[in-house]
Amino acid sequence: MYEQESHALLNDILTKLRPELGNTHTRHFYTRLGANFYAIHSLFYLLYGEREDFKQQLSSLVETLALRYVQRAPHLRESDMAREKNYNWFLSQKWVGMALYCDRFADNLNDLQTKLPYLQDLGINLLHVMPILDCPPEASDGGYAVRNYLEVDARFGSTDDVQALATTLTQRDMLLVLDVVVNHTSDQHEWAKRARQGDKKYQDYYYVFDNRSLPDAYEQGMPEVFPLQAPGNFTWDEAMGKWVMTVFNAYQWDLNYRNPEVLIEMINVILFWANKGVDVLRLDAVAFLWKKIGSSCQNEREAHLLLQLMKDCCQVTAPGVLFIAEAIVAPSEVSKYFGEDAINAKECEIAYNATFMALLWDAVATKNARLLNQGVKSLPTKLERATWLNYVRCHDDIGLGFDDRDISLAGYDPHQHRNFLIEYFTGRFEGSPARGLPFGVNRKTGDARFTGSLASLVGLESALQSQDEQTIDAAIKTIVLLHSMILSFGGIPLIYYGDALGTLNDMAYMTDPFKANDNRWAHRSHFDWAKAEKRHQSGTVEHTLFSTMKKLIALRKELVAFADFDNRQLLSVNNLNLLAFLRTDPKNSHNKVLVVGNFSTEAQRFEIDPLSSCTLFMHHDVKDLVAGTRLELDKHSLLIPPLSFYWLSE
Ligand code: GLC
Ligand code: GLC
Repeated sequence: MYEQESHALLNDILTKLRPELGNTHTRHFYTRLGANFYAIHSLFYLLYGEREDFKQQLSSLVETLALRYVQRAPHLRESDMAREKNYNWFLSQKWVGMALYCDRFADNLNDLQTKLPYLQDLGINLLHVMPILDCPPEASDGGYAVRNYLEVDARFGSTDDVQALATTLTQRDMLLVLDVVVNHTSDQHEWAKRARQGDKKYQDYYYVFDNRSLPDAYEQGMPEVFPLQAPGNFTWDEAMGKWVMTVFNAYQWDLNYRNPEVLIEMINVILFWANKGVDVLRLDAVAFLWKKIGSSCQNEREAHLLLQLMKDCCQVTAPGVLFIAEAIVAPSEVSKYFGEDAINAKECEIAYNATFMALLWDAVATKNARLLNQGVKSLPTKLERATWLNYVRCHDDIGLGFDDRDISLAGYDPHQHRNFLIEYFTGRFEGSPARGLPFGVNRKTGDARFTGSLASLVGLESALQSQDEQTIDAAIKTIVLLHSMILSFGGIPLIYYGDALGTLNDMAYMTDPFKANDNRWAHRSHFDWAKAEKRHQSGTVEHTLFSTMKKLIALRKELVAFADFDNRQLLSVNNLNLLAFLRTDPKNSHNKVLVVGNFSTEAQRFEIDPLSSCTLFMHHDVKDLVAGTRLELDKHSLLIPPLSFYWLSE
């Protein structure tokens, strides 16, 4: 069980009963092991109970937990205890995140420390440093093809540099997020090399086959993640003389979690990085962890059991460390990554809200909020002690991951509507200002996704080229509007590194042979520090964007109603250009903030149903929290300017 509260309580009781116990170094480890062992054993048995070496494997797992606990530094153990007591700490509105590449935003990990003032200027206090572990430079998938899990890529620095960064961040009250790529390794990883040399032990770390018969059976249910650059889910390895499962790129070998040794290795890696001072671990591609013939090999029940085990084990050794689930899956599946039938997250405390992200993009293209309202209405409910990672852009492509049923309910034909969105964002739709690039186009299934930087996707790139003031203004407003939504929705907002300055696509990747076949690099550009300087120069795009975002971030941190305690109520609007929701302070229900966004290019009237529970519009005016002024209401209604939003209170 997830037992943070009971750990803290039990430890308190024990200290009072026998104060001398307080000095023993491993007491807290045993408390936590005691509280979690029933769950760990049951889960491990469900997955591996049939094996003859079951007991031996289980004891190797416990040994891993104990060894990593012994190595855990005193200050981290203290932070664990503090977080156990204050277990809702991460649900606070005070966290605002940014994802960046340490070698693109700075030179390397050390240099990144000198760049923290920029982040703090904006108000960022949660830093996701994109993957930094050792990868073959020619086949890295941007850091997601790991050759050695315990070593930092020499180009970025060393493990000591990570520790130094973690220390600096803690001093500044900032959190560090790092990736653990749990689903696959590089084909240059030691395990893969040994497998290739014929070592059976390591062949069993992967899905390896002598001939096509099982791969063909698997293929029947498996979609392709990269249909163009890496078609199919298996790769023939000449040296090994066998087929190996490679769901992503051909050089990324999928790990075989039917083998408990793989799980134990990965838990060891998780705890290794926890011990380096990382606060939050982003577990990559978690939906793919378990493969079963006849299924799509995504979201399998066993994938959830594995995540529960990872969480339970982390609770024992490093209970202050949180997990983010990167599961870009259907809305009905995603909330399962928090764990089911619980109040507390039993798998990952945080999950990417890819559905909300995709819905926001729909509103950008359609210039209305029909599907956005419908999709938010059917967002799955989540656990109390779990939260979303809300984002507009990240390092990956954008998939239209909402339900066909919601598209129909919004009044569109799903197939046509999806086609329209792809055409729109790749700029092929008549009049579209977007400059996105098609990604993952699958001719067999008709599926497609797209890439591109936020600014290029909302039309800033084309507007700057044509020097059209009105369209430049519309693009800026759209960027702000999108961020106003992720900052207020409930959850941790994660801003992508160039977006507060309006960074455009950068096509330089095309001349790099190791990147040219993957256009996600168009929006992974080197951070332009000269451009960043323009944030101080009023009248520039950079200044408008940066100063507005900075203000919104600061305001979010003050609004307790924006903390995530399932305190959001979607308001039904009779004008579907608008999305409106009410956020309520969990401790004081009189303290409410009404958020309303207008996605249309025309001003729109917002009326509140007098029967709704929202009494905000009963008076003759409301407070505009961003401008700090009061707005006159006209017969209980308010006019919302084009592509704008309000955060309102009494
Ligand atoms: C995740 C990453 C993505 C990577 C993939 C394979 O989805 O975000 O960038 O390509 O996993 O590791
Ligand atoms: C993830 C996502 C997918 C994304 C891919 C790589 O697995 O499921 O949407 O395209 O990684 O970018």
